[in-house]
Amino acid sequence: MANLLLLNGPNLNRLGSREPERYGHTTLANIVERLSQHCHSTGSSLDHLQTNAEAELIERIHRAADESIHGIVINPAAWTHTSIALRDALLASAIPFVEVHISNIHAREAFRHHSYFSDIAIASIVGAGAFGYELALFALMQHLGLRPRPLLPAHS
Ligand code: DQA
Repeated sequence: MANLLLLNGPNLNRLGSREPERYGHTTLANIVERLSQHCHSTGSSLDHLQTNAEAELIERIHRAADESIHGIVINPAAWTHTSIALRDALLASAIPFVEVHISNIHAREAFRHHSYFSDIAIASIVGAGAFGYELALFALMQHLGLRPRPLLPAHS
């Protein structure tokens, strides 16, 4: 049993219609549903926040530390490449987290090659599409000693 948190940064509320050739057709609601199923299979809880406001994400991480959240899956989106403030919030929380990116950021523009999170994350999953969120959750659960029941990939 663990309390887990899924965090998504800017523009990820547009998944499904945003550049589908790059990010696929899966919506954020589909992803949250899928991760919730995995969490419930281990008796864990999952809370989710997507925001386009950096301060809101930072404040959610601050609260997570007080709420005894055990682990975080985060796609910081564009803040991956810019936000020392978000990095500091995660460091201050001391909550283990896995970073996920739908696209392979290393195969894109040079400014996307650097992440402010990869060196402090348990793991970084990039380029696996929406299924990467499940891989990230599994990596987090393994780190926390939880045993999720594997589901077959459902994302295209
Ligand atoms: C992203 C990659 C980022 O570079 C980009 O700004 C995003 C999405 C991904 O999931 O592939 O918004 O984090």
